[in-house]
Amino acid sequence: MKTKRGQWANRWTFMLATAGSAIGLGNIWKLPYMIGVNGGSAFVLIFLVSIVFVAIPLMMTEIMLGRRGQQNPLNTMAKLAKEAGVSRWWRWLGGMGMLAGILILSFYSVVAGWVMSYIGEAMQGNFTGITAAQASEKFDQLLAQPKVMLFWHTLFMTMTMIVVARGVNAGLEKANNILIPTLFAILLILLGYSLSVGNMEASATFMFAPDFSKVTPVAVLSALGHAFFTLSLGMGSVMVYGSYLDKKESIAQTTLFIVLLDTLLGLLTGLAIYALVFANNLEPNAGPGLIFQTLPIALGSMPAGEMFATLFFMLVGFAAWTSAISLVEPAVAWLVETTKLGRIKSSILMGLLIWLVGVSVLLSFNEWSHIKLAFGLGIFDSLDKLTSTVMLPLGGLSMAIFAGYLMKKSHIKEELRIKGVWYQFWKIANTVIAPVAVVIVFLNLLGVF
Ligand code: PHE
Repeated sequence: MKTKRGQWANRWTFMLATAGSAIGLGNIWKLPYMIGVNGGSAFVLIFLVSIVFVAIPLMMTEIMLGRRGQQNPLNTMAKLAKEAGVSRWWRWLGGMGMLAGILILSFYSVVAGWVMSYIGEAMQGNFTGITAAQASEKFDQLLAQPKVMLFWHTLFMTMTMIVVARGVNAGLEKANNILIPTLFAILLILLGYSLSVGNMEASATFMFAPDFSKVTPVAVLSALGHAFFTLSLGMGSVMVYGSYLDKKESIAQTTLFIVLLDTLLGLLTGLAIYALVFANNLEPNAGPGLIFQTLPIALGSMPAGEMFATLFFMLVGFAAWTSAISLVEPAVAWLVETTKLGRIKSSILMGLLIWLVGVSVLLSFNEWSHIKLAFGLGIFDSLDKLTSTVMLPLGGLSMAIFAGYLMKKSHIKEELRIKGVWYQFWKIANTVIAPVAVVIVFLNLLGVF
């Protein structure tokens, strides 16, 4: 370590760590079911457009802000606001991000708990020869048992906070280096299997044949929101990871690599899953239970299915783990850098807080299912909607405005080191495209149009 703060050993570990943050339940659990709920290809198209014109330039911005600020998101924004000569209120952009991370992790951990419970099921061979009806029933049964979910949620939060407590070098780097490549490999095997027994043609048509009649305002908002969610943007995860990145590394290159990897992984998972959905006459719009209801059927009928199912859910669990770490890192880094608590105590404190909110999330599937919060939704759905479709886009919008309008050009050029059309693209995306897209979508949500 060169400084008192942690720093990534090299560019490769930064890329893998940020990819590790990006690749997670968002790709494997959320994207597939959102495609189904939002009308298939229309959603995919808007999602891809959002990735190119909003997410790529904003990821560059977020890494840039973090690396320049060299602190947790709140202090980074305070420092950069001072440097730019604007109000110190900008620091609350960092504050909102930390809150978003806390809220996301509280339901993320519950879903990761489902994944962990499925590792156990797979190991016991419980998916072998399972029918579609049995698979749905198994999932419903899990949701009906708060104690079981509590066990897995607690275990997952503990695992997450242990890594966070150990800090950047010891904790975060090690986990990613092996996991991401292995996840890709196993996904390719699953894809190969789907290709041979699934209905790949129907899947590809569903996901890619453009059908503009299905483009609804809700689909647009969800797709844009998911572009933020899947790339961990708008809340400071990427900012805080960027703050541990060496000055000499290229922000543009690392961004492209991460975005490509993340998008590819999400779309391939979607293709594999829908091939199975259509081959088994299942409903594409099953919602959050989709992968838990479809994958066991597929994995359970494969040769050596037990092993593949175990491996697959383990990798999803690992992917969730590396994302979870990045969800709390901003808040923990803030506690460490502004209080005297130290990393371990800060981690325990944040972990407990998130765990507690998570308990209300898991109860919302059974005992507390009558409680409705924002948008008339239950606790789980409200937290998901509030963070993905409001907080992350709002965070991204603010970062775009800050970098696009308020930061000194010389500072931007020093960090980004891109020229010509690339710089123009970045500039237009941050000053016009991203702000306009987010604002239009918000106004639409408020019923202005
Ligand atoms: N990107 C992660 C995923 O796709 C989730 C995440 C969101 C992580 C925001 C960090 C910040 O699963």
